[in-house]
Amino acid sequence: MSNWMATAIAFSNIALIKYWGNYDSSLRIPSNSSISMNLDGLYSRTRVTFTTERDMDGFILNGLPVGDAALQRVHNLLDRVRQLAGVWMYAEVESRNNFPTGAGLASSASGFAALTLAASRAAGLELGESDLSRLARLSSGSACRSIPGGFVEWQAGEDDKSSYAFSIASPEHWELIDCIAIVSQAHKPISSFEGHVLADTSPLQPARVADANRRLEICRRAILERDFDALAQVVELDSNLMHAVIMTSTPLLQYWQPATLEVMRAVTDWRREGFPACYTIDAGPNVHVICLHSWANQIADRLSQISGVSEVLTAHPGGSAHIVSDVDAADF
Ligand code: DP6
Repeated sequence: MSNWMATAIAFSNIALIKYWGNYDSSLRIPSNSSISMNLDGLYSRTRVTFTTERDMDGFILNGLPVGDAALQRVHNLLDRVRQLAGVWMYAEVESRNNFPTGAGLASSASGFAALTLAASRAAGLELGESDLSRLARLSSGSACRSIPGGFVEWQAGEDDKSSYAFSIASPEHWELIDCIAIVSQAHKPISSFEGHVLADTSPLQPARVADANRRLEICRRAILERDFDALAQVVELDSNLMHAVIMTSTPLLQYWQPATLEVMRAVTDWRREGFPACYTIDAGPNVHVICLHSWANQIADRLSQISGVSEVLTAHPGGSAHIVSDVDAADF
């Protein structure tokens, strides 16, 4: 590994209490704090090489060069890193997501967390966890939660310094499983970037934000006390509140497919039957079904029998973003 090269891995995360809407969009200071769980199976691996041989930044994602908008977002992050480190070389960025492409799973959280860590290390910076989290936040809000490990809270804060994520419990603290029901024929969703901008056009957003601290408190305590019933209630409520805001924005957005609703109904029925499971949905049609470890096989099995569910992925709580060495070039 040369001085100007580093490779990092970061896991994706699922929000249990959602981030939706910004109080300051240029700095990505969110309207409310959020809580998430890192997803062990789903990660981005990213290598950054600063070199004098380039006259612009380059970004290869899953083996292919990306379009201008994605490259610009990467370039902006690299510029912040160059500024902090006093390095004036362009960079070559190669990144691969290990989760199936086209499954409609957001990769910006894991992608920007891995890029933040790899770029800062390649530039010679030794940033602490909260500084890395703040830097990742400027590129993608949810990415700041993929820097620390396990169960993570992003405190909204009020400025760049105070808005970052930290771990509230280790991955080993609670054996929860996220069974992700991939809904087939998913339309390409409107990006969450566009969604955040519209959040304040919904008359429901002020009520969602005003009640957020209460939900955060319940969720935090449910995690710390491993109280699944309390977690299930608040996670579903929070997801429904976010989608209520989404569906009442101007112009209105709609992320669900018919099968999304089918899974939601099935999960609430199963819970009534005594299965410890609850649903939560991000800005897309796929349903994350959170359950206790010992029930995961049965739940994944049931989910795969629902028509419209093309695949079920499962993930344990994941660790923090970290540097890896000796990655074979062929792996990018
Ligand atoms: C619905 O972090 O993807 O997944 O900051 O514009 O990159 P940007 O948005 P992003 O938004 C995530 C929205 C969400 C909820 C959440 O993860 O908290």
